[in-house]
Amino acid sequence: MSAVNEKKVAALEAVKYIKSGMTVGLGTGSTAFFMIEAIGEMVQKGLKLTAVATSDETEKLAKKLGIQVITLAEAKRLDVTIDGADEVDEDFQLIKGGGGALLREKIVAHNSDMNIIIADSSKSVAKLGKFKLPIETIPFATQLIIKELEGMKLAPVQRMRGTDDYKTDENNDIIDIDIWDTDIKLTDLEQLLKTIPGIVETGLFLTTTDLVIIGKGEEAVIKKR
Ligand code: A5P
Repeated sequence: MSAVNEKKVAALEAVKYIKSGMTVGLGTGSTAFFMIEAIGEMVQKGLKLTAVATSDETEKLAKKLGIQVITLAEAKRLDVTIDGADEVDEDFQLIKGGGGALLREKIVAHNSDMNIIIADSSKSVAKLGKFKLPIETIPFATQLIIKELEGMKLAPVQRMRGTDDYKTDENNDIIDIDIWDTDIKLTDLEQLLKTIPGIVETGLFLTTTDLVIIGKGEEAVIKKR
């Protein structure tokens, strides 16, 4: 079975956790797409729910499928959020933000009672960091942050869209850094990065995940924290 179908296998297992009346956080990306599509079908069959979107792209898709999207302020608290990841390790730690939505994704995850991560088997890793870690920065500070990260030997590269700087939904920049060889513990690295003014958020999601569902062939492998 192809990787694309493993994403769907995981997504279809995850939507079983959604019950009528819930407020649901909708993740972003190609795996989340299958989850949103499945929720759209459930809504069309009569399931009542409200949703908070983690990106403009997700909001557009959800609305197109008839899902009622509300703001985070209106929701106050979410029952469950289902989202993808770029990497997930055995300790439920993630790298996210390949699609640039890490900031809203982390805010939504923080405000959810339960966080389910869905992924194909290629995302499951023994150690995080083959995937470059995205960090979101305020444009005013980006170039100086790059210099600082170079000094920390983290090989920062500003993300581009063609010849323009890549911009997030919040109109910030993304710098992708290489953490593979760093000997700093992930929790310390997260703290350290957050002390640099202008870094708004990192794609390290170390504590928020409750359940990981990996599509492995036709099987959905469920891991509970
Ligand atoms: C979006 O910014 C990301 O955090 C995605 O959740 C992550 O990149 C996974 O995306 P795919 O499901 O498209 O691989």
